[in-house]
Amino acid sequence: MKDSMKSFSDSSRPRLAVCGGQPRFNDPKYVGTPTIPDRADLHARLDRMLDTRRLSNDGPFVQELEDRLRRLNDGVEVVTVCNATVGMQLLLKALDVAGEVLLPSFTFIATAHACLWEGLEPVFVDVDRTTHTIDPTAVEAGLSDRTAAIVGVHLWGRMCPVRELDAIARDRGIPLIFDAAHAVGCSYEGLPMGRHGTASVVSFHATKFVQSLEGGAILTPDRDLADRLRLLRNFGFQGYDNVVALGTNAKMNEFCAAMGLGSLEGLDALVRTNIANRSACRESLAGLPGLRLYEYDEQERNNFQYLIVEVDPRACPLSRDELVQVLHAENVIARRYFTPGCHRSGPYRDMPRRKSERLPVTEQLCDTLLALPTGAGVTTAEIAAIGTIIRTAIESADLVRSFLSARRITPAAA
Ligand SMILES: Cc1ncc(COP(=O)(O)O)c(C=O)c1O
Repeated sequence: MKDSMKSFSDSSRPRLAVCGGQPRFNDPKYVGTPTIPDRADLHARLDRMLDTRRLSNDGPFVQELEDRLRRLNDGVEVVTVCNATVGMQLLLKALDVAGEVLLPSFTFIATAHACLWEGLEPVFVDVDRTTHTIDPTAVEAGLSDRTAAIVGVHLWGRMCPVRELDAIARDRGIPLIFDAAHAVGCSYEGLPMGRHGTASVVSFHATKFVQSLEGGAILTPDRDLADRLRLLRNFGFQGYDNVVALGTNAKMNEFCAAMGLGSLEGLDALVRTNIANRSACRESLAGLPGLRLYEYDEQERNNFQYLIVEVDPRACPLSRDELVQVLHAENVIARRYFTPGCHRSGPYRDMPRRKSERLPVTEQLCDTLLALPTGAGVTTAEIAAIGTIIRTAIESADLVRSFLSARRITPAAA
């Protein structure tokens, strides 16, 4: 231990795990702890699945889940899939997109991978400083004669600027696709998420707002597109023996659909939980220098799926990465979404950069955002305790920093 730290008596040390204290939580608190639906209902559904031996291939639970999602989205077509990444690939294939695709770099890597996997050229554009979603001005600047589609990403449980993107896509006559992995239950200008654009892809991954173990769905107002998606998700089969297109296997199975149905039933309760968590977080961080809670457009329906705090390096005595180390030591597995950004991740970082790929806002957000645990896996009292950890660390920033450098923890290893 460094001499400077020896001089602090035990009583003057902040009670933090990075300073030698006990971790605040025995079990890790994750950003995306899965929400478990009512067990009795799930067991009953699984019994029915086993009794009827309908395990996959457009079974009754898949149909019921599609029907519920359709009703939640004003009657649009819904095609469930095995996960959102494959769903995005299926959609790009069904739309016959070829050439460049404009998308934000500030997204989970799957958005970019789906494009590249389908042989398209991802062109990354910057995002808006306040909403963290794709910046329509940057989209305009990124257009070329090879632009074949725009992919907007709805982030953190709020929608991206649909109206502006729609105008650009219509003007160009190209599809407007949404990665709506975070946006189940959200609205834009009063209309539900699925009504917008050419199509939207949601994720029901275990860590998502609505979860089906693994899974996703494509929502579209276009019936012909939905028919093509149904064909392609089942190997291109039309009837029992007739294959008419290059399809794949992107089907959701019945176990996943049973879980998804239970999870969807808890949607309103989970929004209420997230709102309460957010208030607890706001209260516990009040007055701390350089910390700002991400704001939502309160005119719309948001699901508040993520609890995002921005750490301003000019005002906060600890950096975002130092706070991550402090929190990890306490068993709070805060995340640095979406560091380092798609454009700085493999394989994209090795590709020739285009002029339009100057992404200062993206890079700033990658360096400063902190995602904290929320959802049903964490109580408001635990959120308050996480706030106290952050407050204690900031109030003893110099000492915390010296302990951190003695431990030589890197954020990746924390
Ligand atoms: C923004 C975003 N897009 C796409 C995905 C991929 O979804 P899935 O895991 O269902 O393939 C995720 C998360 O997993 C995501 O957060």
